[in-house]
Amino acid sequence: MMPSRFQSYKSFFKQLTLAVVLLTTLPILMGAKKEYTVPVEGLDSALRKPHRIPIKRMFPDKPKFATLKKSPDRTYTMDRPKPLKRQTWWTIPKELKNKAFACQFNKQHVIVVDKEKGGALVAQWMIDQLNEREARNLPTTFGLATGSSPIPVYENLVKAFREQKFKTDNLSTINLDEYIGLEPGDSNSYKQFMRQHLIADLELTDDQFHIFDSQAQSENDPEIQRLQKLLTQNPRHFQLLGIGENGHIGFNEPDDTLSAETPTRIVKLTESTRKANAPYFGGDTTKVPTHARTLGPKDILHAERIVVLAWGEKKKAAIANSILGPIKPQVPASLLQKHLNVVWVMDAEAAATLFKQGGRVTREMARQFPTLFQTPEK
Ligand code: F6R
Repeated sequence: MMPSRFQSYKSFFKQLTLAVVLLTTLPILMGAKKEYTVPVEGLDSALRKPHRIPIKRMFPDKPKFATLKKSPDRTYTMDRPKPLKRQTWWTIPKELKNKAFACQFNKQHVIVVDKEKGGALVAQWMIDQLNEREARNLPTTFGLATGSSPIPVYENLVKAFREQKFKTDNLSTINLDEYIGLEPGDSNSYKQFMRQHLIADLELTDDQFHIFDSQAQSENDPEIQRLQKLLTQNPRHFQLLGIGENGHIGFNEPDDTLSAETPTRIVKLTESTRKANAPYFGGDTTKVPTHARTLGPKDILHAERIVVLAWGEKKKAAIANSILGPIKPQVPASLLQKHLNVVWVMDAEAAATLFKQGGRVTREMARQFPTLFQTPEK
């Protein structure tokens, strides 16, 4: 007997449903079985809840949670990754209402605020995180930067420390980078910069303050290995960054090979960076060292939270390219798009191109920063 038209429709839909179910569940089932094996070094100290950690600590571009199984050969196996939500860990206090604007561009958090208030705001986030961890008896590590951008943050940290708003007994710091070829006591070394602007005032000992040596490199550069070990032993809970006019972070200069996997290493500085830093060397670019040691994007991206500071018009192009543009090695800070917990804190001048290209200006912002957002006269 010939099947009725109704029956053939029915079997067709049955097969279609089966195909859809198979197509949607198969990748999930395969994904659930997928396992990543990670080296154990440093992980023990990173794991407070031994069996559940964000994979992004190890694979910044796989932002998922995983359950870890420890194997006898001291490697961890992860399975059943689950999506990790973007966190909003920062707050803007009431007194900054209408003075600090939080917005999102290309899924990244941007806060527009003037330099002085921005410095106080970021210092407060760092103090909150430190105190919150201190209350749970946990040590904290901050990744720090030099240059002019973090100075307002450091000033506020020093002020708050003098007012006994936090303790530093359980704090350690690791700096991003250091020139190569300067004498240990050279006032232009980043070690001296940090001592002068923060470390001495926070009463941090040499065991708590870590930075590359500024001595010239030798064959296998044990200095890189030394810092690399410190990084694994002290996972950073907070990383402060500045951004170069050419989009560099740390001393990771634009080039064709840079990626989120580029490790901590020795780099050659570009002429534009040496020129930008010449004022610290009496305006003489030839006195600026040609090489430096820097944390690579791979290690920068392993920090739990990242704040990038940018003040002034000179940064506006780098900011727009890093936040709105595609991720590419010629704009090193664009690699930060791979991290889920980055907050960009900048003044209106640094935000200018971003807002022009992104085109989202609230009425309140336009009122607050009239010169920046006024419509050109016809
Ligand atoms: C410094 C560093 C650099 C600076 C950048 C911006 O440790 O890593 O990437 O953050 O060159 O410098 P400033 O803040 O002086 O504009």
